[in-house]
Amino acid sequence: MNQRTCLSVILAAGEGTRMKSALPKVLHQIAGLPMVAHVVKAAEAAGASGVALVIGHGADEMRKTAAKFAPEAETFVQEKRLGTAHAVIAARAAISKGYDDVLVMFGDTPLIDAQALATARRKLAEGAAVAVIGFRPPNPAGYGRLIEQAGRLVAIREEKDCSEAEKKIGFCNAGMMAVAGAHALKLLDAVGNKNAKGEYYLTDIVEIAGAQGLDVVATEASFENALGINNRAELAQAEAIWQQRRRHEAMLSGVTLIAPETVYFSHDTEIGADTIVEPNVWFGPGVMVASGAKIHAFSHIEGATIASNCDVGPFARLRPGADLRNKAKVGNFCEVKQAVIEEGAKVNHLTYIGDARVGAGANIGAGTITCNYDGYSKFFTDIGEGAFIGSNSSLVAPVTIGNGGYIASGSVITETVPDDALAFGRARQKTIPGKGKELRERFASAAAAKKKAAGADH
Ligand code: UD1
Ligand code: MG
Repeated sequence: MNQRTCLSVILAAGEGTRMKSALPKVLHQIAGLPMVAHVVKAAEAAGASGVALVIGHGADEMRKTAAKFAPEAETFVQEKRLGTAHAVIAARAAISKGYDDVLVMFGDTPLIDAQALATARRKLAEGAAVAVIGFRPPNPAGYGRLIEQAGRLVAIREEKDCSEAEKKIGFCNAGMMAVAGAHALKLLDAVGNKNAKGEYYLTDIVEIAGAQGLDVVATEASFENALGINNRAELAQAEAIWQQRRRHEAMLSGVTLIAPETVYFSHDTEIGADTIVEPNVWFGPGVMVASGAKIHAFSHIEGATIASNCDVGPFARLRPGADLRNKAKVGNFCEVKQAVIEEGAKVNHLTYIGDARVGAGANIGAGTITCNYDGYSKFFTDIGEGAFIGSNSSLVAPVTIGNGGYIASGSVITETVPDDALAFGRARQKTIPGKGKELRERFASAAAAKKKAAGADH
């Protein structure tokens, strides 16, 4: 089968009014990736080398998203929504290039897995002209019913066109199918629109192919594979299923999730074996975690790279460009953005490190802030190996702290600190014996006098 070429035609011209959104439906995201991009990924995983995206509503935004997430996809505009067969024909130019298999898919069915598609393609390799992906939903209402006779698929009847007896059939059309490229356009062009909705139904090609003596079969996929998204409740349902699948996969690949149902992954999260993730951790897009790391509870991580044996959180925020090298530590209420924390360096408490390098083995005291922004531009802070930054220091960028530099607590550092130097950036302490007591007495008698004066007013 691998030698057979395959085009995936993804239908995504619909508006998706039930999403109640300014954004086209298929651009809503699951695990940080637009659902149409999930569909493209599944098609490619099933061996599609060509992708034709049929768009209509929100065409400009759709093109932009396609360029970003699926640059290999060619877009075709379906000017009027006249039905699923009409939509597939919008990609005529791609289909007529002569692929062996044409996989028709829906942009709003993001959980379809490559396996279900590959099964349908295998039927074509075995000689079928059309292989329809069927499923058994808990409630079949609204779906097209698969009408089989003697193990062959003879028709798909849309609910609105079904007889009472046909409505009782539980085996339904998931919407997707594989069609032999040699027959595809001929079958599609023969579809008419004499049905309850007056649309050109893709599903009609089943009867048309049967009438021509071609072999038509149905395969069966799980309900999840066919879950179509029409509103935000279904979007959340699909997200939940996706997350559940991903957590399971992570655990089977050697990641410990103490409370898996509270950990959220993105479509591209990479996480190594023997990493432990505590409850309530969120991985946004672009995160790579190596093996043996500990991600403590309530950490929020995106666009970050975390090397082996790092320790992150609890309550850490790693933003894009955070690059933690081997054994680095970023502790509670710390934020790191666009900064390298080199091997074994520690940023443990209440700190902001942005646009910076923290050298290997450096220790950043509680409350340290890199002042990287003047309201207009961002500047870099370079902290050398083994430096020690005393608590509550402000490092005003651009600034360099040399290797082994030592910063006194509470400093505001604006100038270069050479290697192994000690820098104070604060006023020297002044201590006046007895002055505390004197002040206290003065304040107490002033308060008493005020109270007395207030009483006299009554
Ligand atoms: C379709 C199937 C039905 C199946 C169901 C599964 C047909 C005729 N019916 O019905 O048997 O059980 O899916 O969910 O195929 N689209 C276009 N242009 C159009 C029409 C549709 O791009 O002119 C796109 C939609 O955006 C959507 C997909 O095609 O992504 C399916 O269209 P939809 O109207 O949802 O079809 P259903 O009535 O759900
Ligand atoms: Mg639908």
